[in-house]
Amino acid sequence: MSAKAKGSAVIHSERYTLFQRVLHWGIAGLVLASLAGGAMLYTFGFTGLRDTFGMDVTNTIYKAHKTLGVLILGLMLVRVAARYGLGVPAPVPTLTGFERFASAAVHGLLYVGLIGMSVLGWLATGAGGFPVEFFSARLPGILGKNEGLSETLYWLHGLVAVGLVGLIAMHVGAAMMHWKVKKDGVMERMMLWGGGR
Ligand code: HEM
Repeated sequence: MSAKAKGSAVIHSERYTLFQRVLHWGIAGLVLASLAGGAMLYTFGFTGLRDTFGMDVTNTIYKAHKTLGVLILGLMLVRVAARYGLGVPAPVPTLTGFERFASAAVHGLLYVGLIGMSVLGWLATGAGGFPVEFFSARLPGILGKNEGLSETLYWLHGLVAVGLVGLIAMHVGAAMMHWKVKKDGVMERMMLWGGGR
């Protein structure tokens, strides 16, 4: 079956492609791990982590958080390209106008928030004079050292993270409602297997 979603290319399926579904769940896992790591960095701070866990563990936690952020950014860019290249299935026909508007708004904000959060983290790290680490590689910091700017960018990075937590809660809540209460096939469009559609 062929369907066309507004502003996107045609897709010949009622579900997201397997590639898009794998990207969705892979990125979802990375984002949850990154948010958990970020909450830990915020709660303990550098000195708190070092005093509690020692220098090696602290460095590993920072490196993992930065690596996750760069990975999320790269995969989100692949995802945007996949969205425009492969298209998306048209909305489930039984959705109300409000549901269509709300899901488009939340999905759009998730895209902007995920890319924005990673970019802000990268720039804040560079401006702080800290290494931008991706596994064992060191990426360019992009901005020159500017501690005031780094603090502002870290603040914005945290603000976007808090906004994302709210968006994810709404998104997961809506997905559960469609899956278990409305049973209208929305969840099945994104499941890795099964779904029967
Ligand atoms: C238990 C967790 C999650 C569930 C059950 C879930 C479920 C879904 C479902 C069913 C869709 C398809 C909606 C439709 O067909 O209209 C979807 C799309 C989407 N999800 Fe999730 N999701 C989860 C976690 C996440 C997380 C953590 C993120 C990112 C932070 C995320 C980002 C997105 C985005 C951006 C889309 C829109 C894809 C597009 O149309 O291009 N999801 N999700």
